[in-house]
Amino acid sequence: MPEERMLIVGGRRLEGVVHVSGAKNSAVAVIPAAILSQTPCVIENLPNIEDVNVSVETLRYLGATVEWNPLEGTMMVDASTITKTEVPLELSRKMRASSYYIGALLARFGEARVPLPGGCDIGRRPIDQHIKGMRALGAKIETSHGTVIAKSDGLLGSDVFMDMVTVGGTINVMLAATHARGVTTIYNAAKEPHIVDLANFLGSMGCRVKGAGTDTIRIRGAESLSARRPYAIIPDQIETGTLMIASAATHGDVTITGCIPTHMEALTAKLLEMGARVDEKDDAIRVRSLGEHRSVSFKTQVYPGFPTDLQQPMSALLCTCIGTSRVVENIFESRFRHLAEMERMGANVRVYEQTAVIEGVPQLHAAAVEASDLRAGAALVIAGLMAQGTTEIYNTHYIDRGYEHLEEKLNSLGAEISRIRG
Ligand code: EPZ
Repeated sequence: MPEERMLIVGGRRLEGVVHVSGAKNSAVAVIPAAILSQTPCVIENLPNIEDVNVSVETLRYLGATVEWNPLEGTMMVDASTITKTEVPLELSRKMRASSYYIGALLARFGEARVPLPGGCDIGRRPIDQHIKGMRALGAKIETSHGTVIAKSDGLLGSDVFMDMVTVGGTINVMLAATHARGVTTIYNAAKEPHIVDLANFLGSMGCRVKGAGTDTIRIRGAESLSARRPYAIIPDQIETGTLMIASAATHGDVTITGCIPTHMEALTAKLLEMGARVDEKDDAIRVRSLGEHRSVSFKTQVYPGFPTDLQQPMSALLCTCIGTSRVVENIFESRFRHLAEMERMGANVRVYEQTAVIEGVPQLHAAAVEASDLRAGAALVIAGLMAQGTTEIYNTHYIDRGYEHLEEKLNSLGAEISRIRG
């Protein structure tokens, strides 16, 4: 198939109102969790993105009955028709969240065979903590030829101490713990908004989860769980942040509706520090930027610190901030690959191990650039919006994994973005 690429005519000021979609990293955790429900469950506010489509394919491969309406963002999952407990390599490799099917299948059926997951190439991304946590509940887990094989003849609630804060590890242990006899306590748990969202979804099917959003989560295992009402997932924190950054990058005036401002505090603080204006309402954020921006520095941290997923889009904005910005990537080993592409657009950056030093330049200029992962793609979109001329971005499929209709949203605000093949 001929290579598709995105064309962005730079210099357009973004202005207007845009509604944020449901959270990708919630969706890819809540959808496998539907396996735990004895009754069909309905999930709402799902984004129409590639990772959700892969989740649908995975559930259908297992035998679940899935009705997915991408236009409405609504999905019905009936797990009672599941006949398989193994995920095929061609699906597992497509995203990191495939690992969640280990915890969900183990909890419901006592077994799972899942090839090690794929996902953005931003570091080693092992799943040793996922496995450690499920073994603590009594599961027998081995990895053979790149496939995780998990079995249990009854999980038992236990204390699980995470060696480091891991979103995926916390989610997988939560899923397994839903059917472990007694209480499971996860210490050093991740606190991201999508952890709380998953806990609320589990609660909506009768599971008792306490402490989600703190570093200690307690889950009381149940014999069976049954969804009782439709569940709408939270808005996407990272898409909200990407749109906030796009407004500042184009000296625009954009209001993002349907978001949760408290999820955005780390980014909001940095945008204010650089001289942008940010006004918060109950479920909307307005970002305006009139003058020049001052350089700012930040370190990526687990929630509520500055999110690693916004490091790449933010680094594009920093390229034209006056002065020197320093970005430290503390979560993943190699999440700076987009910087080399931005250098082709005139950015002045130097990388020392986990630190990127960005010297502001007056203007970026358009170039042909390649996205290396999902958020690198978002960073190049931001750079293209800022650059003089028309930027071409290759590997746009990465962007489609995590952003629902990104160019339509940006074009509705005044951007000029199109796609061509060949
Ligand atoms: C989730 O990845 C997100 N993906 C990532 O978003 C996000 O960057 C990350 O959390 C941090 O917020 C999904 O939710 C699908 P981790 P995950 O486990 O779960 C190490 C995006 O752009 N680690 O919190 O893989 C790991 O290597 C994506 O939307 C272990 O060593 O992140 C990393 O260095 C990219 N052993 C660090 O911990 C383990 O068992 C944090 O990883 C697990 C993790």
